[in-house]
Amino acid sequence: MLSVIILFPDVTTAQSMAFDTREATIDSVHHVLFSGLSTCREVVSAFLSRIEALNHHTNAIISLNPNALDIADSLDEALSAGNVTGPLFGIPILLKDNYDTIDVPTTGGNLALANSQPAEDAPSVIALKRAGAIILGKTNLHELALEGLSVSSLGGQTINPYDSTRTPGGSSGGTGAAVAASFSVFGTGTDTVNSLRSPASANSLFSIRPTRGLITRTGIIPISYTQDTIGPIVRTMKDVAVALTVMASTGYDEADNATALVPPSSRNFDYAAGLGNGTLKGLRLGVLNGFFNRTDGSETNPVNQAMDGMIRKLEDAGVMMVEIDEGIYNCTDIAILDTQRFEYRELMDAYLSHPSLSGKHPKTLRGLYARSGANGIGDFLVIPTQYEYVNTALASSTRNTTYTTIQSKISNITLALGSTFSRNNLDAIIYPEQKNLVVKIGFPSQTGRNGILAALTGSPVVTVPVGFSERSESAPVGVPIGMEILGRPWTEEKLLQIGYEVEKLGRVRRVPQWAKEVVEMKRYEKVPVVIPDTGNIPKVYPLGML
Ligand SMILES: *[C@@H]1O[C@H](CO)[C@@H](O)[C@H](O)[C@H]1NC(C)=O
Ligand SMILES: *[C@@H]1O[C@H](CO)[C@@H](O)[C@H](O)[C@H]1NC(C)=O
Ligand SMILES: *[C@@H]1O[C@H](CO)[C@@H](O)[C@H](O)[C@H]1NC(C)=O
Ligand SMILES: *[C@@H]1O[C@H](CO)[C@@H](O)[C@H](O)[C@H]1NC(C)=O
Ligand SMILES: *[C@@H]1O[C@H](CO)[C@@H](O)[C@H](O)[C@H]1NC(C)=O
Ligand SMILES: *[C@@H]1O[C@H](CO)[C@@H](O)[C@H](O)[C@H]1NC(C)=O
Ligand SMILES: *[C@@H]1O[C@H](CO)[C@@H](O)[C@H](O)[C@H]1NC(C)=O
Repeated sequence: MLSVIILFPDVTTAQSMAFDTREATIDSVHHVLFSGLSTCREVVSAFLSRIEALNHHTNAIISLNPNALDIADSLDEALSAGNVTGPLFGIPILLKDNYDTIDVPTTGGNLALANSQPAEDAPSVIALKRAGAIILGKTNLHELALEGLSVSSLGGQTINPYDSTRTPGGSSGGTGAAVAASFSVFGTGTDTVNSLRSPASANSLFSIRPTRGLITRTGIIPISYTQDTIGPIVRTMKDVAVALTVMASTGYDEADNATALVPPSSRNFDYAAGLGNGTLKGLRLGVLNGFFNRTDGSETNPVNQAMDGMIRKLEDAGVMMVEIDEGIYNCTDIAILDTQRFEYRELMDAYLSHPSLSGKHPKTLRGLYARSGANGIGDFLVIPTQYEYVNTALASSTRNTTYTTIQSKISNITLALGSTFSRNNLDAIIYPEQKNLVVKIGFPSQTGRNGILAALTGSPVVTVPVGFSERSESAPVGVPIGMEILGRPWTEEKLLQIGYEVEKLGRVRRVPQWAKEVVEMKRYEKVPVVIPDTGNIPKVYPLGML
C-alpha cells in the first residue's frame, strides 16, 4: 500500500514519476531524487497537492512558504550538477509557527502577531536549510504554545486526524497532525512542559525532547528559560535521529547560554550512525507508577492496557522492569514548581523588542496582552488555564523571591531523579505521556499529561507510539497512545537506540483513515495559499480579554 507509484503519461521528462508522499521517509525521498525517478520540484508539488486536498480534515497548516518551489528548483539544479549537500537534501518539512523564518511571518497563532516578520532565520532553521531541507510552511499550535489544545485565534482549532472529536494534543498539535497525515517528511515542535511529546503521543508519532541546551532556542517565541526546548516530530525513529543530528549541529550559541553546558561528547554528534547498535536485552527500565491513572474509566483503560502490553513485550525482549513507587513522582505536586509565570514576561519582552523582528507587532508582553481594537475585542482566545498564568506572569518576574525558592526545589527534584537512576542502576524511565486519551475538542485544558518532570529537570525524552484505543465511529483506526522514555541528561544516543528497538518490537504506528487517500500531484505555477479555518473555534473559547 505504501509504495504505490503512479506514472503520469503526459509528463515531459520521460523518467519522471509522481512521488507517493504517504509515510515518506528521508530515505524514500532520497531514493527517488538520487535515482532520477523524480525531482525536488515534483516531491514538493506532491506534498503541496496533498496539503491543498486534505488539510480541511485537520486544519493543521497556518501558512505555506511562497518560496518553496523556487528553492526546489535551485536544489534540482544542484542535483543535476552533482552537487548534493547535506543529510536533508530536498526533504520537505514543516515548522511550528513559533520558529523564526525569513520566508513567512512568525505568528505563534496569535492575531496580534499576524504580520510579525523576522529578518533572520532562527539558528535551528539555518541548520535545517543548510542541511538541504525545504520549508514547505508553518503549522498551527496552541496560541503562543501556552496550552495543549492546539487552538489559536489565527489558526483556529486543529483537529486530531485519528478522531474528529478530539484535539491533536499540543501545543505542537499542528505539526503532529500534519506529520501524521504525511503533509511533510517531518516537522518541528517546541516543548515547555509537554509540547513535543503530547502531539507525538496523540498522532502515533515519534519525537525527542532533547536535554536542555542541546539545541539553541534563539529565534523561537519563548516562554521559559528553564523549561523551553525544541526538536523534531517524525514518523520513524531513524528520521528522528537524522533530524536531531541536524538541529543539534547549531552547537554553542552566545545568545542562549544553556548551550554552553553541552559536553564535548555530545558536540557535533551523529545520532543516526549508531542507531541500530543498541539492544533491549539486559536493559533496566524504571516504571513510574505515580504517572499512571489506574482508575477504571473509558479514557484511562486504553492507556493502561497499551502500556501494560508494551511492558510485557519489553520483558519478553529481555528488559528488566523496576517499579518506582517514590511519592515525589506526583505530577500534581511537581507542577507547583513550574517556572513559566516567572520567566515569561522578561523573555517575551526581549523577543518582541528584538531589532530583527519587523512588521507591525506589539513590542512587549503587556502590549500583546492588552485589549486591542476599538470594540474591545482582544486578539487572544480566552482559555482560563492559560490566561490565569499569563495574568500572573504580568505581575511576577525572576526577581520574585518565590522564584528563588522554586529553583532550589527544582535542584532538589533533579537530584532526586538522579538518585533514582543511580540507586536502581537504570538505563531509562518509562510512563505514558498522558494518563488518559487526548482530550476532546472544547475541553478547557489537556489534562493528565506527565511532561512536567522532564521539563523541570531538563531531561531528554524520546516519545514512541505504544497502541490505540478501540476503534469507534469517530476514531476508525482508534485513538493513538504514546509512551515517554526519559533518560539522564546527554543520553540522547542511548534513548534513541531504545526507541529504535521499541519501534521494531511493535510496528505500532497506523495511518489515519482519511490520510490513506492518494492525492494526484498538481503542477503548480506558484505555491498555493492555504487559509486556516478559524470558523471552527469552539464557542467556549471567545476572543477577547478576561
Ligand atoms: C555546491 O553547493 C554549495 C552549497 O549549496 C555551494 O556553495 C557551491 O557553490 C555549489 N558548487 C557548485 C559547483 O555548484
Ligand atoms: C543566562 O541567560 C539568561 C537568559 O538570557 C540570563 O537571565 C542569565 O543571567 C544568564 N546566566 C549567566 C550566568 O550568564
Ligand atoms: C555500530 O556497530 C557496528 C558493527 O557492530 C560498528 O562497526 C560501528 O562502529 C558502530 N557504530 C557506532 C557509531 O557505534
Ligand atoms: C499526588 O498528590 C496529590 C496531592 O498533592 C494527591 O491528592 C494524589 O493522590 C497524589 N497522587 C498519587 C498518585 O499519589
Ligand atoms: C483519573 O481518572 C479518573 C477517571 O477517568 C478521573 O476522574 C480522575 O480525575 C483522574 N485522575 C487524575 C489524577 O488524572
Ligand atoms: C511574586 O509572584 C506572585 C505570583 O507568583 C505575585 O503575586 C507577587 O506579586 C510577586 N511579587 C513580586 C514582588 O513580584
Ligand atoms: C528535597 O527532596 C527530598 C526527597 O528527595 C525531600 O525529603 C526534601 O524535603 C526536599 N527538600 C526541599 C527543600 O524541598
